[in-house]
Amino acid sequence: MIVAVPREAALNERRVALVPETIARLARSGVAAQVERGAGLAAAFPDAEYERAGATLADASSAWVAGCDALLCVGRPSDALLRTVRPGTLLVGFLAPLGDPEYVARLAAAGVTAFAMEAIPRVTRAQAMDALSSQSNIAGYKSVLLAAGTLPKFFPMLTTAAGTIPPAKVLVLGAGVAGLQAIATARRLGAVVCAYDVRAIAKEQVQSLGAAFLEFDLGDAEGAGGYARELTAEQAERQRAWMVEQIGKNDCVITTALVPGRAAPLLVSEAAVAAMRPGSVIVDLAAEAGGNCALTRRDEIFTTENGVTIIGTTNLPSTMPFDASKLYSRNIAALLALFVAKDGTSAIDFNDEIVRGACIAHDGNVLLQQG
Ligand code: NAI
Repeated sequence: MIVAVPREAALNERRVALVPETIARLARSGVAAQVERGAGLAAAFPDAEYERAGATLADASSAWVAGCDALLCVGRPSDALLRTVRPGTLLVGFLAPLGDPEYVARLAAAGVTAFAMEAIPRVTRAQAMDALSSQSNIAGYKSVLLAAGTLPKFFPMLTTAAGTIPPAKVLVLGAGVAGLQAIATARRLGAVVCAYDVRAIAKEQVQSLGAAFLEFDLGDAEGAGGYARELTAEQAERQRAWMVEQIGKNDCVITTALVPGRAAPLLVSEAAVAAMRPGSVIVDLAAEAGGNCALTRRDEIFTTENGVTIIGTTNLPSTMPFDASKLYSRNIAALLALFVAKDGTSAIDFNDEIVRGACIAHDGNVLLQQG
């Protein structure tokens, strides 16, 4: 099998799908890699390291992907690349298929066998392939650094000759992978942390990280696949009203609440922002899905009239591209292992639940059900 690693198509994307370390490992199982020149540069992996790992470098101008069996990306590949691949080529990446049936139809029309990293089922056997988790971890960590860098206060409690400074108070909304990492990071920086999630199971996880869990009787809102379900309009309204008071008690609010395939739930109303003290910070990790805060502006950082800074930066994993690529690359390699037979040739078992869950287009057909 020959895999192709292109430079990413999106302008703000600094990650790369395979790093040299993984390429060397894949070579031992009979997988050869062709890497577009400069593909890893923004993630601090120079071409020379790819060559040393055994990759062949390719020029963007040539139709280099035409001879490859798999195209491995972080985000969606460029249209130009998609036109160049042979029918039957495997395509792997965060392809954002939910809510975009037209794009999935285009993949099917291109004849590729497409695997969306975000559609990999959250089953134990797929943990090593779980790129949503590996990247959410980074987003959670980075969100706290952004908050700490913006807040005009210390995170930890300080006892000094000039008196004592109390620790910052951080509220994390949504305690999935990103939220739990945000809690752990904020705790390491010395903040007092509390968190809230609609899934009842999150309580124990939050508490095990030394944070308090906010109780609000909504009933358990766990849906399919371990994800949260969408709340009813009445539940969401009650939740927002209750949240106003909670939010006003905190210096930083980090929101991470998502429901797959839906707009992000609105948790932080204008009234809640108004209840915060000047200097407070909101980091909205759901900005890409419409935001958990009513005032979030996607990819903008701004300060409201009452002095609250709202950070709507998207794609935080791309701001830590070295480690983000390293982890993503290992996720991809684990997925590829499902596709590669012992002799290095491609062999895909469509009866495998991971293959079935992640494959969104094959043999000219769309396989994804839009929920
Ligand atoms: P996500 O990114 O889809 O959502 C983030 C969090 O927001 C979730 O915890 C969700 O419950 C919460 N949320 C949604 N609506 C909310 C609302 N209205 N108010 C408050 N919180 C709300 O979730 P993520 O991080 O992808 O994790 C999803 C699930 O998958 C979790 O149960 C996680 O533990 C599980 N998981 C399982 C793995 C496995 O291999 N078994 C691996 C990774 C995650």
